Amino acid sequence: MTTASLSLDGKNYELPVVTGTEGEVGVDIGKLRAQSAAITLDPGFTSTGACESKICFIDGEKGILRYRGYPIEQLAEKSDFVEVAWLLLYGELPNAEELAKFRGQLTYHSMIHEDMKKFFEGFPNNAHPMAILSAMVASLSTYYPESETEDHHDENIARLIAKVRTLATYAYKKSIGQPLTYPQNKLPYAENFLHMMFAVPCEEYTVNPVMAKALNMLLILHADHEQNCSTSTVRMVGSSRANIFASISAGICALWGPLHGGANQAVLEMLEMIQNDGGDYKKWVKKAKDKDDGFRLMGFGHRVYKNFDPRATILRTMCEEVLAELHIDDPLLQIAENLEKVALEDEYFVSRKLYPNVDFYSGILYRAMGIPTNMFTVMFSIGRLPGWLAHWKELRDEDSRIYRP
Ligand code: SDX
Repeated sequence: MTTASLSLDGKNYELPVVTGTEGEVGVDIGKLRAQSAAITLDPGFTSTGACESKICFIDGEKGILRYRGYPIEQLAEKSDFVEVAWLLLYGELPNAEELAKFRGQLTYHSMIHEDMKKFFEGFPNNAHPMAILSAMVASLSTYYPESETEDHHDENIARLIAKVRTLATYAYKKSIGQPLTYPQNKLPYAENFLHMMFAVPCEEYTVNPVMAKALNMLLILHADHEQNCSTSTVRMVGSSRANIFASISAGICALWGPLHGGANQAVLEMLEMIQNDGGDYKKWVKKAKDKDDGFRLMGFGHRVYKNFDPRATILRTMCEEVLAELHIDDPLLQIAENLEKVALEDEYFVSRKLYPNVDFYSGILYRAMGIPTNMFTVMFSIGRLPGWLAHWKELRDEDSRIYRP
């Protein structure tokens, strides 16, 4: 199949057809407006591809997710987040030398300029950490003016992946009135984050290896996901040749929404609400089905996955394992599993192919690590950052046209 025919006002138009590596078919309408003065209309972009990309593949019917061809299940089990970040950014898993160099860069760039600490003093203590993160990431561009030029991408990519942990943990420490904790060069990526989050000057802090392993896996599971709302935002802003920090800051803002990455915070708040309401989860499933009620079962449904989100499957198992290893009995996990069971047997959810998504279980793991609910979407941002950067780099490497629907 090399062309698709469109008949409009008695005229026929032959439109080129592109085929992806897994046989996906796309009709290229790039020249339709020039030939026919007509455009296509697709609110919410339910049937629109914005670009051709080599980074990520999802099969929503089969519950397949691959980063550069590697199944998410393999990467979650066998890799760590820094390796996966390199894979997304540069197309192959790093060799030993590349990995050591990249780890070194992420250590070297983990601090922020001392003057940036003053920015935190201006935020109110109850400022949402996503507001702080997006503001601080955009502000990084003021310390690296060379980021306006095209030949510092790799250094700025390493800066962002390194510093996002520091900015996130500073936002948390500021919110609880504790002194900011500097990164420790001897610690690997995830361990350094946990150290900056939870270490206090007055006592020794040792990273729990169970939490470090769970955090690595959580970050891997969130690392990329094709042209989702926030990644499309990063591409949109990057297409204007805005600098890398401005583009990522825009992605953070898009992710914040409760229909997107903000859902992990909304799921925990929903589970706590059901618990405080006596735990009657069936009542809330009924409300979610009532169009007039406006309540949605957060963490359920997905634009692409129409059977199951492979990430949710992995996270569900992880929840049970990590809570057992940490000897935590979290009643919210039982409420979540009851909700999932009832919903998956209910015609409303089955007919609309609404299954638990990545956000449904992730919050229970973050909570087990002692991470506060309003930091959950910040955790999602730390995980998704390499994916955003990989798409930004791909768009800039191919010298893409400016996006203007
Ligand atoms: C993420 O795109 C990505 O890849 C995102 C993500 C990533 O990794 O980047 O996977 C991360 O954002 C996961 C999604 C997190 N969001 C939520 O959990 C919020 C709750 N879910 C929804 O709001 C919704 O399912 C979306 C936003 C996820 C998908 O929205 P769509 O594809 O536009 O679907 P829709 O809103 O048109 O819903 C279709 C039908 C509607 O009913 P009808 O009008 O057909 O009668 O399903 C219903 C909706 O009312 N529906 C729900 C529901 N989700 C959809 N009903 C109750 N509860 C829900 N959660």
